[in-house]
Amino acid sequence: MERSFVMVKPDGVQRGLVGEIVSRLEAKGLKLVAARFEKLPEARVTEQYKEHLSKPFFPGLKTYIMGGPVFLMVWEGRNVVAIVRKVIGATNPQEAMPGTIRGDFGIDIGRNVIHASDSVESAAREIGIHFKADEVCTYTRIDESVLYEY
Ligand code: RTP
Ligand code: MG
Repeated sequence: MERSFVMVKPDGVQRGLVGEIVSRLEAKGLKLVAARFEKLPEARVTEQYKEHLSKPFFPGLKTYIMGGPVFLMVWEGRNVVAIVRKVIGATNPQEAMPGTIRGDFGIDIGRNVIHASDSVESAAREIGIHFKADEVCTYTRIDESVLYEY
């Protein structure tokens, strides 16, 4: 089953949105298979966002993500990567549709509440940065037999 790495960013934690975000993903039918609450060290933030190292917004992004604790998660489900990107909405909360997490809870692009992997390959890479293999749980959710058609 496909996996995605999702992180409530420091602004989302400070604004008390962890529960709301977890609820939305749970209610969708996605399965939480790993989670940790912590303040990220610089090395893992740089590794997480290494595709943006040369971008002008990178120093601000690093300061933002290291500015407080974050809630790291791994979610599992059929097509989970694409589904979570839709649930979180466009990168810029001003362009994100109402009903999405960024559309409902954010305003500035540099304070957009949540991260989610943008491809199956990035998901595998990002999960590897933040979780050991044995920290990701395997279990069956009791509603799986009615959630999926096959
Ligand atoms: P993320 O990686 O955090 O899930 O966000 P994303 O894929 O939607 O957007 P991405 O292009 O990967 O950008 C990563 C994060 O950098 C910040 N950003 N600031 N000031 C700016 O122009 C700017 N552009 C990007 C945002 O926090 C964005 O989520
Ligand atoms: Mg990204």
